[in-house]
Amino acid sequence: MRIGVLGTGNMADALAAHWVRAGHEVTVGGRDTDRARRLAERLGDGVRHGDLAAAAGAGEVVLVALPYGVGEVVVRELSAALDGKVLLDCSNPVGAPGFRLLTGDGPSAARRLVLAAPGARVVKAFNLCHEGVWRMAPPVFDGRPLAVPVCGDDPAALALVGTLVRDAGCTPVAAGGLDRAGLLEATAALFIGLWVGEGADVQAIAPPLAYAAGAAG
Ligand SMILES: NC(=O)c1ccc[n+]([C@@H]2O[C@H](COP(=O)([O-])OP(=O)(O)OC[C@H]3O[C@@H](n4cnc5c(N)ncnc54)[C@H](OP(=O)(O)O)[C@@H]3O)[C@@H](O)[C@H]2O)c1
Repeated sequence: MRIGVLGTGNMADALAAHWVRAGHEVTVGGRDTDRARRLAERLGDGVRHGDLAAAAGAGEVVLVALPYGVGEVVVRELSAALDGKVLLDCSNPVGAPGFRLLTGDGPSAARRLVLAAPGARVVKAFNLCHEGVWRMAPPVFDGRPLAVPVCGDDPAALALVGTLVRDAGCTPVAAGGLDRAGLLEATAALFIGLWVGEGADVQAIAPPLAYAAGAAG
């Protein structure tokens, strides 16, 4: 698969490393092309680099690894190059005060990318864990690979992102259409607030599947 990565920071590095290891053709692009070059060199032989437009043009799947708000602006500028492509949104519109959802009553961050690049096929995934978790190879806890909820409307786009989730050593979970991406973003706000604000173990707040509809047996 040809993958473009918009951004050269933590998420770009963490996720691209899996995809390079899996043999995909990766191009990293940033506003600072020196930083893009350094990241490409660290990721391995054959990884390409350039500016943001180069990464958008190179990928059939394009990861937006930019801060919430910036992603929308950059994607709007590059919308022509993103026509027909899978646009992978990992952003968390979460901020101060109180780990609140910065999208408020407006569209989700993922939906804002659709508005910015109407020809792109947007998929939301990889937003629920810290970049340190995405750097694990593989992210496995208590013997179970991390499950990654994925939201999107285009079956072919979802299939490609499912492959990228598996290439990261994780298990994709179909979490519905893009209209549910806002729920993933709200879940991130809840999780981050519990982890950082309360020191709470988020894994402990849901019962096993057998108890989902009440006490088992
Ligand atoms: N970090 C996490 O644990 C984590 C987990 C899940 C999801 N996410 C989401 O992933 C996204 C990326 O996070 P990150 O941790 O990778 O951030 P990061 O390490 O700070 O990297 C951000 C990237 O965005 C670029 N950037 C910043 N402002 C820009 C602008 N105005 N124009 C163009 N490029 C700009 C930066 O370029 P420069 O290097 O030139 O500044 C850098 O390449 C965010 O939406 C975040 O919510 C993060």
